[in-house]
Amino acid sequence: MSYHKAMRALKWSTSHAVFVTEIDDEHKEIFEAVANIQAALANYISKHGPAPELREPTHRLIACVVGHFAHEERLMRAARYVSLRWHKQQHDNARRRVGQFVQQIEQGDTKAGLALVEYLTGWLRDHTRLADRMLGAALRNRRRSLVKMTFQAGTKPANACAWVDANGGTFNPLARLH
Ligand SMILES: [Fe+2]
Ligand SMILES: [Fe+2]
Repeated sequence: MSYHKAMRALKWSTSHAVFVTEIDDEHKEIFEAVANIQAALANYISKHGPAPELREPTHRLIACVVGHFAHEERLMRAARYVSLRWHKQQHDNARRRVGQFVQQIEQGDTKAGLALVEYLTGWLRDHTRLADRMLGAALRNRRRSLVKMTFQAGTKPANACAWVDANGGTFNPLARLH
């Protein structure tokens, strides 16, 4: 059995869910694109050798992954996420590694395409299950507390901000202006 056939295809399952719809949707899309490229590469290479027409989909996939990282980083910044540095460092490593693979592909390294897919398969599995899931939990908590705050502000009783004088009695500060 050849090396690439032994590699398990990337498949999104609930074990990868971070329970934030916009992130889960992007993950599903990326997982599917990686699996498609893996299948196409394996199929093509087994018949013809290196696959030049897979350059386009590979570049699109990388753009998609890089865009997704930027999206998560925007969400982390907006939420003042405490583990932003740690999470972004993982993205940075992947960005650097992917950049190296792209360079190898451009230089005509015939094995670099599959090596890239294999790298992304493992990296996405691990990163999604831990770092992205933690981020998802933090974003959900934040969104829930924002909704709660808005709800409380909206349902405050009319006398919630009553002025209290030194003796504990309420007074109307506007009335005293006259
Ligand atoms: Fe991430
Ligand atoms: Fe992600």
